[in-house]
Amino acid sequence: MQAQNDWLQILFQCKENVKDSTAPYLDTSSVSQLDLGIGAGGDPIKSVDLAAEKAIVEVLQKHIVSFTLISEESGVKEFGNANAQCYVTVDPIDGTNNLIRGIPFYATSIAISTKPILSTVYAALVTDLFHDTTYTAQKNEGAYCNGRKIGSSTLESLDEAMLGLDLNSYKVEEIASKLTALIQKTKHVRHFGANALELCYVADGTTEAFIDIRGKLRTTDMAAAYLIVKEAGGKITTPAGDALDVKLSPEQKVNFIASGNTQIHKTILGLVKP
Ligand code: IPD
Ligand code: CA
Repeated sequence: MQAQNDWLQILFQCKENVKDSTAPYLDTSSVSQLDLGIGAGGDPIKSVDLAAEKAIVEVLQKHIVSFTLISEESGVKEFGNANAQCYVTVDPIDGTNNLIRGIPFYATSIAISTKPILSTVYAALVTDLFHDTTYTAQKNEGAYCNGRKIGSSTLESLDEAMLGLDLNSYKVEEIASKLTALIQKTKHVRHFGANALELCYVADGTTEAFIDIRGKLRTTDMAAAYLIVKEAGGKITTPAGDALDVKLSPEQKVNFIASGNTQIHKTILGLVKP
C-alpha cells in the first residue's frame, strides 16, 4: 500500500492530468454534447466524463500495482492482480450538467480506501476544475485547500447561516416537506449543482451545512468530500444522526446531513423530519 504522503502526490498528478485531458471539452462545451450511453451510476455519459476517468486511471496505473476502481462511469474494475492494494472511488466529473452549460461549478472527486466502505476512506481529493481550487485530506492529518489547512464553520445558529440543500428530485413534495421547518429558520439557502464541491464548502466554512436526503446521491459523488469534511472538523451523519457507513459502489445511494460543528448539527437534526 502507498504511504500517506505518496497518495497526495499521486492525487495531485491525477488532478493535473484531468485538467489537461478535459481542457479541449471545455472550449467546445454545449448542452448538445452527445450522450455516450448510460454510466454505471445510471446517468448519461458525456465524452468529458470518460476523458476525466481515463486521465485518473492513467496516473494510477503508473504508480500503483493493483487497485479496484469504483467509478460512476465505468463501474467496478480491477487493475493489476486480483488482490487489490486499495479501492479508488471516483466521480470523474461531479456537476457534468453545470460543465456542459458553462456554469463554472464542477469538480473531480477521488477517494482512496482500504475496503469498499465509506468509513475506510483514508485519502481524498476534490478539485474545483474551473477555479483550480483543490481540497485534500488524509485520515488524522487534517484537511487542506490549496495546501492551506482548513476548518469548518464555528457559527452555531441558523439565523446567519448559509445552508446548502439539494432538492433536485421529482419527489420534491415528499423531500421538501421534511425540510420545511429547517428552511423557515435558515437565513440563506443555496444549491450550486456539484455536491462534492458543496461538501467542501462546508469543510472550509464557506457554508454552515449541506443536506442531501433525496435518496438519490451516489456514494461515488461524496466519498472524497466525506473525509474532507470530517478532517476539517465538520460533522457528517445520516439524517437520524448516526454514523454514515455505506458501501462504496456506483449504485449505492446515500442520505446525509453535513455541517460545521456539533451544535448547529444538533439543531439541524432536530428540525429535519424523519
Ligand atoms: C450530480 C451533482 C448534482 C446532484 C446530482 C448529482 P453528477 O453529480 O452532484 O449536484 O444534484 O444528484 O448526480 O451526476 O454531475 O456527477
Ligand atoms: Ca459524475
